[in-house]
Amino acid sequence: MLIRSIVPLRPLVTRRFSTTMSSKAKVLAVLYRGGKAAEEEKKLLGTVENKLGIEEWLKEQGHEFVVTDDKEGPDSEFQKHLPEAEILVTTPFHPAYLTRDLIQKASKLKLAVTAGVGSDHIDLNAANERNITVAEVSGSNVVSVAEHVVMTILVLVRNFVPAHEQIMAGGWNVADVARDTYDLEGKVVATVGCGRIGYRVLQRLAPFNCKELLWYDYTDLPAEAAKGIQARRVEKLEDMLAQADVVTINCPLHEGTRGLFNADLISKMKKGAWLVNTARGAICDSQAVADALKSGQLRGYGGDVWDKQPAGQDHPWRNAKNKLGGGNAMTPHVSGTSIDAQTRYANGAKEIIRRYLAGEAQEQQNLICIDGDYASKAYGQRENKTKATGQKGAGP
Ligand code: NAI
Repeated sequence: MLIRSIVPLRPLVTRRFSTTMSSKAKVLAVLYRGGKAAEEEKKLLGTVENKLGIEEWLKEQGHEFVVTDDKEGPDSEFQKHLPEAEILVTTPFHPAYLTRDLIQKASKLKLAVTAGVGSDHIDLNAANERNITVAEVSGSNVVSVAEHVVMTILVLVRNFVPAHEQIMAGGWNVADVARDTYDLEGKVVATVGCGRIGYRVLQRLAPFNCKELLWYDYTDLPAEAAKGIQARRVEKLEDMLAQADVVTINCPLHEGTRGLFNADLISKMKKGAWLVNTARGAICDSQAVADALKSGQLRGYGGDVWDKQPAGQDHPWRNAKNKLGGGNAMTPHVSGTSIDAQTRYANGAKEIIRRYLAGEAQEQQNLICIDGDYASKAYGQRENKTKATGQKGAGP
């Protein structure tokens, strides 16, 4: 039987908005520019050109809809339109950073929607202070990311990139590549965070006959789900890292995870381990990762998320390599924005906006902040402060 079929579905709990919405709202969307690709492929919905497929729908109802990719600095279109916007839609792929300062200026903002998963580009504490609802399309791209994680693990362990580069350059030297190529079978793989993505990564790794699958999360898994992945929970992060040949990071970026993988924590990993990060770039110290590749403490680093996006030309991860000239499996932020995922997160963002405009309750699983507090347990442990219901946390 498929694991998913025995995992109990979460109840559909909804929360009503405490703020009132305007009959004619200004909706501001910051999306990435797709250029020729977006003109040719209309399913690239997360682009400025294709506007999440919601332009006509919003305009028919008389709402104003502004879409831009211009997001940096006080003269940007983002900052120009923000003070009048009631709804802001952003994607993690081209994040408009909604800082505390900007939240002060966004006096009409009531709803911030993340078209995708991961709302760390918003200062969530400041959003709570201003009673701004923050919602994301939970689950919309978690399979896309889990597949990318498994791919990146294999790309690193199998030393694929140098082998491919050799072929493209006209070369043929088996030994040069094989000297750093391994099998995933028999290795220990560990995930930091066992929510929707981390869980799916472990599910997908089961047939590879790894020596052991490990997970670390401050939230426990439901009993049925825990049985489903046949992985061992480790209580202390450092203990897990010391045992793992491959580590994959699958937790959100928040105060407790920013800069978590610094030189000190990386030094506690098994020497020569592979590290995969598709969660958020800023969870890792970029220079510490590059240094660890150079020294051999890490054999490889891969993922698609960067501490600033788009990443600068001089970002250390663009050229970081291990001692043998491989070990880099970085891509632009693409794992959660496959064509399939774009359909799901565009539809999900539309549904969040529709509910808001109709004065209807939101699905609890999509809520990060509401009524001035966190609605999710995933963005850090806040035992005394949060009203989080646990709808978004460990497990599928
Ligand atoms: P989720 O909310 O289902 O699971 C996150 C898990 O991380 C929760 O179980 C939570 O308890 C755990 N966690 C939080 N802090 C932790 C810590 N310090 N140590 C260990 N565990 C911790 O979220 P989901 O859907 O699995 O996504 C996870 C993250 O992946 C997102 O927040 C986002 O940053 C990233 N993501 C990246 C995408 C991409 O395109 N590269 C696309 C989608 C998500």
